[in-house]
Amino acid sequence: MKILVISGPNLNMLGKRDKEMYGEKTLAEIDSLMKKQGEALGVEVVTFQSNSEGALIDFIQEQSSSADGIIINPGALTHYGFSLRDALADTTLPVIEVHLSNIYAREEWRAKSVIAPIATGQISGLAWRGYVAALRTLVSELKGESWE
Ligand code: DQA
Repeated sequence: MKILVISGPNLNMLGKRDKEMYGEKTLAEIDSLMKKQGEALGVEVVTFQSNSEGALIDFIQEQSSSADGIIINPGALTHYGFSLRDALADTTLPVIEVHLSNIYAREEWRAKSVIAPIATGQISGLAWRGYVAALRTLVSELKGESWE
């Protein structure tokens, strides 16, 4: 099983950028944590970050036929990235949208996600743990595991 973990614009600056809002961990640390978690769950995790919407779409189009699910933090593209939304929808894969911060507790424009309607679900405001929760949930769902 292969899961794509995708990060959008400015997330390469994690660890330096507004630490109160986004936490101390760098993207390299989050990505390596996700790969480790993937190993523990017996799935391959492929990570990718770009500041450009086109590069994100190219990656999704190239990788989706060999992937089973997508975890994405689209950064600010969350709020206006219609091409990214279409590319994600075109994969027909389960997509979990993740945000480090709580996008509903910030500026009004951040409370709107154009990605959420095509996503299986969204995790917002749980910092880096949201990524781990997304991976565990997605893999569990794909494996058809019961949590009862
Ligand atoms: C973010 C929230 C977005 O509004 C913002 O533009 C980001 C990060 C988050 O992880 O909290 O770049 O997606």
